[in-house]
Amino acid sequence: MNGKTLYIDSDAVDNAVTLWRMGQLVVVPTETVYGLAADALNGEAVARIYNVKGRPQFNPLIVHVADEDTAQRYVEWTNHAETLARAFWPGPLTLVLRRRRDCPISELVSAGGDTLGIRIPAHPVTLQLLKAFDGPIAAPSANRSGCISPTTAQHARDELGDAAPLIIDGGACQVGIESTVIDLTGDAPVMLRPGAITKDRIADLGIKHWRAHAKDDVLKSPGQLESHYAPSAPVRLNATQVMPDEALLAFGTQVPLGAATTLNLSERGDLIEAAANLFSYLRSLDHSHHRTIAVMPIPETGLGVAINDRLRRAAAPR
Ligand code: TXA
Ligand code: MG
Repeated sequence: MNGKTLYIDSDAVDNAVTLWRMGQLVVVPTETVYGLAADALNGEAVARIYNVKGRPQFNPLIVHVADEDTAQRYVEWTNHAETLARAFWPGPLTLVLRRRRDCPISELVSAGGDTLGIRIPAHPVTLQLLKAFDGPIAAPSANRSGCISPTTAQHARDELGDAAPLIIDGGACQVGIESTVIDLTGDAPVMLRPGAITKDRIADLGIKHWRAHAKDDVLKSPGQLESHYAPSAPVRLNATQVMPDEALLAFGTQVPLGAATTLNLSERGDLIEAAANLFSYLRSLDHSHHRTIAVMPIPETGLGVAINDRLRRAAAPR
C-alpha cells in the first residue's frame, strides 16, 4: 500500500488492523495529538517507529489500550493508578508503572527499562481501532524527532510523507498537546510531562504530595534513567574477536567464533531487526553470567545511531 489517508469507516478500521497485524505503521488520531502507531507486542514493528521518527535515542513509548482491564494485564496496578484512571481515563493522562513480570510487550517500548507508560485515549476513532485490533498499540507523536507534534491528519502527512502506509483522519485533535505523564513507580508520584491533566485537578482527588522531577529524569534523557536497563556484566564495544569466557552480541554474518554464548541481533544485518532484539538479547546475555558482554560493531547509520547510543550507555563506567 502506498501512503494514503482515509476517513474513518469500516474499511479504514479493517485496513489499520490488517497493517498492524503485518507489523506496519498506521498514523492514528487521538484527543491529544496524532500518533505513529504499531503493534506493541511486535518488536520489529516498534523498531520501525523509531526508524521513521529518526530518534537518536530509544525514548520509551506510550502504550494505548481500550480499557482498564487490558492495562492491568501489562503493569503492576497501584492505588494511585486506580484513582487516576477512574478519574481521567479515557483521557490525556499517561501512567508510568512497573511492567508485570509476564508482560509480553516488546522491551523496546520500555527502552529496555522495567516500566511502561500506558493510557486509554479519549477519541472515538482511536477507541474503535483499539477495540478492533484487540491488543496494545505503541504510539509516539507522529512527528519526526525534534519537530512539532501533528494535530491534524494533514500535519502528520507533512511530517511523515509516505513513511506510514496509512493515515487515519479523525479531524483536528481537541486537546492539541501531548498527554500528562505521571510516574507512579516510586513512593510519591512524579510529574514527568505536564499536560491537560494538571496537579490542581489531581489534588481534588486527594493526591497532593509529589516528588520533584529530578534533572536527569525521563524527559531530559530517558536513556540515562537508572531504571533503564544496564547489564551487570561489563560491556565491551566494537569487538572483532572474543574470549572463551565472554558472551557475544553479534551483528551480521562475519561473526567471530569461540564465545561462550552468542546471540545475533540480525544475521542479515538489518538494523530494524537488530533494534527489535537489542534489549531482550542484552538481558539474556547478562543472565548467562559470563565475564564480559562483547558487542560487535554496529553501523552508525539509520537506527544504528540509536542502537550505538544505547550500547555506549550500557558500556559506560558505572
Ligand atoms: O498524548 C500523547 O501522549 C501522544 C499520543 C499519541 O498518545 N503520545 C506522545 O508520545 O506524546 P511521545 O513518545 O511523543 O512522548 C511520550 C513521552 C516521552 O516523554 C517519554 O519519555 C514518556 O512519555 N514515557 C513513555 N513511556 C515512559 C516510561 N516507561 N517511563 C518514563 N517515561 C515514559
Ligand atoms: Mg513526541
